[in-house]
Amino acid sequence: KDSKKKSDQGHSPDTTLKLKIDGKKRSFNIDDPKLPDWIEEGALASGDFPYDEKMPNEEYAEILERLQIELVKMQYWLQDTGGRVISVFEGRDAAGKGGTIFNLRQYMNPRTARNVALPKPSETERGQWYFQRYISHFPTTGEFVTFDRSWYNRGGVEPVLGFCTPEQHESFLAQAPGFEHMIVADGIYFFKFWLNIGQIMQLKRFHDRRHSPLKSWKFSPIDIQGAKKWDDYTKARDTMLERTHTPHAPWTVVRSNDKRRARIAVIRRILLSLPYNGRDPGVIGNEDSLIIGSGPGFI
Ligand code: ADP
Ligand code: AMP
Ligand code: MLT
Repeated sequence: KDSKKKSDQGHSPDTTLKLKIDGKKRSFNIDDPKLPDWIEEGALASGDFPYDEKMPNEEYAEILERLQIELVKMQYWLQDTGGRVISVFEGRDAAGKGGTIFNLRQYMNPRTARNVALPKPSETERGQWYFQRYISHFPTTGEFVTFDRSWYNRGGVEPVLGFCTPEQHESFLAQAPGFEHMIVADGIYFFKFWLNIGQIMQLKRFHDRRHSPLKSWKFSPIDIQGAKKWDDYTKARDTMLERTHTPHAPWTVVRSNDKRRARIAVIRRILLSLPYNGRDPGVIGNEDSLIIGSGPGFI
């Protein structure tokens, strides 16, 4: 993420959002430090989230540590066998991609576990085959590569904010399954996660970022643009999931209003899918079918 500039995307935008949420008209000024009650109270439940409490922190910390130990074992196996992994993380702004990737990689050897978070394409890159700039970051033997956003920019942010033409969008949707077929056919373990959040949860997280000195770098003016375009993003998401959910490269959808449950679900899925030595299903635990599922039908 270091390579991204948040300040170069224009002058200060109007920070008052006028939104229609679940049929109610709402007005929300993100610059006001006080978070409105309707956001505080509605965030976790938004978008039909199935739990009314977050996972308790002690339970989360304990499970996470066990899974992180398994990840270390998995990484030894990757190194021994020369296996390669790509895991793509997608989702709306503030879905929790960055935090999930952080926890996934926290105790992995950074030499062979890389994260890729590309800035907007340069002039040269804009003239290349769309997938080209991503390919140069693909793993070599033994590497585990996460993508914090990916070629799926062209399925979401680009068409919604007008950074590509409708023809480019269509061509992307047509090409992505074949592109990913080549990845899997070459023997790379390939995952793609869609982290799904509710609309009110997104507003709460934008507000947290806007007012937290530690998180403000995550807040970009185009997030305000994005928040206004919730419905356009929903349409783009649905089309993208329909067109690119394939048997060789299925989408894994994670209900992510509770970051703790989401992170555990993602790591568990990865561990359960990789046949590493000493894998201990008893330690990994069972998937929560309310939180993680397959393809567009799960949303
Ligand atoms: P993030 O949410 O990943 O922290 P932003 O919200 O600033 O970052 O941007 C969302 C995505 O849109 C990024 O992947 C960024 O590279 C991409 N993007 C921003 N501006 C453009 C542009 N002009 N053309 C293409 N992609 C862009
Ligand atoms: P499984 O049904 O999870 O035991 O997987 C069977 C085989 O499919 C594994 O041995 C892997 O080679 C392959 N496989 C499983 N998950 C993935 C994935 N995410 N990407 C690529 N190959 C996979
Ligand atoms: C995150 O929460 O880390 C994200 O989903 C990144 C973003 O806001 O785009």
